[in-house]
Amino acid sequence: MISVVILGTGNVAKHLFDVFWDIEEINVLQVLGRKKKKLAYFKEKVATSTDFSNIDNADIFLIAVSDDAVAEVAQFLNGKKGLVAHTSGGVPIAALGNESRKGVFYPLQSFSEGKPINLKKVPICIEAENKVDLKLLQELAQLVSLQVHEISSDQRKSIHLAAVFANNFTNHLFTIASEICTDNDLPFSILTPLIKETVEKLKYLAPIEAQTGPAIRSDVKTMESHINQLKNKNYQDIYSMLSKSIKEKHGQKL
Ligand SMILES: NC(=O)c1ccc[n+]([C@@H]2O[C@H](COP(=O)([O-])OP(=O)(O)OC[C@H]3O[C@@H](n4cnc5c(N)ncnc54)[C@H](OP(=O)(O)O)[C@@H]3O)[C@@H](O)[C@H]2O)c1
Repeated sequence: MISVVILGTGNVAKHLFDVFWDIEEINVLQVLGRKKKKLAYFKEKVATSTDFSNIDNADIFLIAVSDDAVAEVAQFLNGKKGLVAHTSGGVPIAALGNESRKGVFYPLQSFSEGKPINLKKVPICIEAENKVDLKLLQELAQLVSLQVHEISSDQRKSIHLAAVFANNFTNHLFTIASEICTDNDLPFSILTPLIKETVEKLKYLAPIEAQTGPAIRSDVKTMESHINQLKNKNYQDIYSMLSKSIKEKHGQKL
């Protein structure tokens, strides 16, 4: 049985809590957060507290707070015997300080409010400073996922950067596409088969081989017309910058 205290009440804390709660070998002892209102989600099932200076003892303390707050929250765990692990892709293990056993438990997926995720299919990237701690994180990770990877802080930094391009930026482009549809009385769902195919074909082709569109074809008039259609200056710049990058990647100058 692995005992766990979760620090944080956001998307990742909720998703991990829900999964941990259903697993017999994981005992969630306490959830900590700054706001009582956010703790309401957990308090029917588990002890909750806003007092970070009075934290229960556990095998693993999972810090699932905003990246910039990880180091600050880790300080409340100084002197604890258990392993302190954060869930961030972009924060180095060293941010956890030197006063406790340190680790990382990074689920490589996008978690949003109200959208359940099957954690079994989510890669969990773990890191620790010694074999004993790594084994403990491995045990926890294997209870929730079929894909567990030992990843260094440097590798994780790169995975996180790649994930920002693959997910966060792509989603922003979907947002722009959705606005263009709405402004022209079109349902965004008309693009769904195209969006699905964009991802589906990556099973068969490398991304560079799958590129299509006006930029790779050098359809200059079409690109000019698209930029003129856009009223938002940021969106015009994004269009121009991405078109330039596509052309240069494929060996042509704009
Ligand atoms: N969302 C994802 O897709 C995803 C995926 C993998 C990893 N992660 C990582 O998981 C961590 C949590 O992300 P999230 O998406 O769950 O964030 P989130 O939903 O925005 O929640 C952030 C949490 O951090 C708490 N917090 C912020 N500053 C704090 C402070 N100074 N002291 C105590 N608590 C503080 C917030 O508390 P308040 O409500 O009181 O502000 C909230 O509970 C981050 O490190 C993130 O990089 C996120």
